[in-house]
Amino acid sequence: MSTPVPFWVAGTPRHSTESTPITHPYDNAPVARASIATDADAAEATAAAHAAAEPFARASAAQRSRSLDHVARRLTERTDEIAELITAENGKPLRWARAETGRAASVFHWAAEEARRFGGEWQRLDTDPQSPGGVALVARHPRGPVLGITPFNFPLNLVAHKVAPALAVGAPIIVKPAPATPLSALLLGELLAETALPSGSWSILPLPNDRMPRLVADTRLPVVSFTGSGPVGRSIREAVPHKHVTLELGGNAAAVVCDDWSTPADLAWAADRIAVFATYQAGQSCIAVQRVFADSTIAAELTERVVQRVATLATGDPRDEHTQVGPLIDEEAARRVEQWVAEAADAGARIRTGGHRTGAEYAPTVLTGVPSTARLACEEVFGPVLTIDEVDGLDEAFDRVNDSRFGLQTGVFTHRSDSAFAALARLHVGGVVIGDVPSVRAEHVPYGGVKESGVGREGVMAAMTDLTEPRVLAFPGVSL
Ligand code: SIN
Repeated sequence: MSTPVPFWVAGTPRHSTESTPITHPYDNAPVARASIATDADAAEATAAAHAAAEPFARASAAQRSRSLDHVARRLTERTDEIAELITAENGKPLRWARAETGRAASVFHWAAEEARRFGGEWQRLDTDPQSPGGVALVARHPRGPVLGITPFNFPLNLVAHKVAPALAVGAPIIVKPAPATPLSALLLGELLAETALPSGSWSILPLPNDRMPRLVADTRLPVVSFTGSGPVGRSIREAVPHKHVTLELGGNAAAVVCDDWSTPADLAWAADRIAVFATYQAGQSCIAVQRVFADSTIAAELTERVVQRVATLATGDPRDEHTQVGPLIDEEAARRVEQWVAEAADAGARIRTGGHRTGAEYAPTVLTGVPSTARLACEEVFGPVLTIDEVDGLDEAFDRVNDSRFGLQTGVFTHRSDSAFAALARLHVGGVVIGDVPSVRAEHVPYGGVKESGVGREGVMAAMTDLTEPRVLAFPGVSL
């Protein structure tokens, strides 16, 4: 195979003597080798980020936003090639890989715009009779260099969600991509290297997970932004309680279909969206539909439609334009899903379609009658599997949604504005989507969860706020 893909230390490509093979999840075909950063490389990247922190915080908004705009443009120009790379390392079908590339361009585009606007705010000091009057500038200053740790399921866009907001606020960032899928992040490095960003402002370091704790503990990286599994996220938080830690963890997202969502067109729409977004990228999204709660008045018809739609999804080689559902990241992941489905079936659940595995592929699967204690009901399945339950009314539906350790997003299919506001008030989640699935996410909107789904929010502006702290400059006694 050709020369290993280099990693990036302080904006410069570098090889080491160590490299790892990246293979295609569908057929294990070799894709590339990625060079692995050594501890010395990581130390150098950290020192460079530390040294760059103050000058980069003072770099002009023009310089930062121009660079971010450049990356957005190049992602768009190179969409097809990048999508093929995402598919090759992650196994998601090309259509979803293209969507991911477009989303990443949007992240950089938004970050460029917000960088231009990120000027803090003025507050009045003459609001109480006893106050001296005057004004205060509430500016925002980067907390310091960021360690961004990213997962395999969106190997480009979840890297973009760490990198772009950090660069937008002038915070250096070191990215540690998921070991299985470093190539998209390394390609992003090529685009960043085309900009005038200062060298110490970014590094991309593929490292084995067992070499991560040293970076996490390094006091020169006061911010850790992690997306991935709950146990790893919690261990990071416990290891560095004094640091600013943002965690985007898992979920077992629900869709509620209400009694007023009942016309044939309504049910066709809900069934299609639920089928597609329970199984997109083989269910490997934290906001893939996992649990459906359908009002008893429409449950039978909805279930029938969902089952039919899921059964018609095209599975197979993700490089094929027609494929809708490809493999999971590896066979071990598919075997775990197989085991959870078998467990639920043994406990009395009925498999309505799917329920079988071939290598790393797991067939899109619908179950009904899953006991609430089964792992399929209460853990995050991260596979193309959904459960449907019948409920009587909104109260029961909301109670069932909230009966979860997680709380990321919920979709509520209703036409009623009172039900929409009730959902906002009563669901313990970071976001509610009305008339659609929980999987809807726009790059500039705050995104994150409550309970075991995480701490803090991403979404370009929310992340920029999270990566900075307020600094106040007060002018008491000044009158406007
Ligand atoms: C995630 O799986 O955490 C992110 C979902 C998305 O960005 O659509």
